Amino acid sequence: MVRRILVATTNLGKRREILSILREYEVEVLFPEEDLKVEEGSCSFLENAYLKAKAYYEVYKIPTLAEDSGLVVPSLDGYPGVYSSRFYNLEWGGKEEPKEGKDKANINKLLRLMEGKQDRRAYYVAFAVLFLEDGGLWSEGRCYGTILQEPVGEGGFGYDPIFQPEGFQKSMAQLSMEEKNLISHRGKALRRIMQMLK
Ligand code: IMP
Repeated sequence: MVRRILVATTNLGKRREILSILREYEVEVLFPEEDLKVEEGSCSFLENAYLKAKAYYEVYKIPTLAEDSGLVVPSLDGYPGVYSSRFYNLEWGGKEEPKEGKDKANINKLLRLMEGKQDRRAYYVAFAVLFLEDGGLWSEGRCYGTILQEPVGEGGFGYDPIFQPEGFQKSMAQLSMEEKNLISHRGKALRRIMQMLK
């Protein structure tokens, strides 16, 4: 019986959403105090999620949930994909935060690359891994939509101001957290994994 789950992320946007998604399950949700700075060396969401979950499990010895997620744009050959969080400096690397903040820098770069593209379809994807003492579980969730011409809305995080989910006339950043969690890649992946755990 799993009563406590450590959620291996230091991203505040993700933490808020994961807490709210897991509220309906009878588990205590814990967050690590330290950032283990696990290298996301792989070009696979699943492997990155697995590496994060394993690294935190080995330190805390508590069932550990990690997720790796990103935005996939087919007309950009799948970019930003696994590079979503550091897309703005993919070519030149470096650790310096851009003046306008990472999220804005990522959005500006994506909009620049999308200029003149007819096909603006995109999807968010999340892979979740639950690392347990005697094994593990994984799941995938997707949320389909399109890339807007300019940012709209203040909610969410990351690319949400330029992502319009299918069936909505609003950006993801204009949805309440509850609305977003119902349709999001993260909501789907986490509910699936919790269902499997049951
Ligand atoms: P990572 O999983 O920590 O490598 O980061 C995933 C990155 O993908 C985030 O930093 C965001 O840029 C983007 N991303 C993932 N999920 C979302 C979301 O729900 N909204 C907006 N951006 C997201």
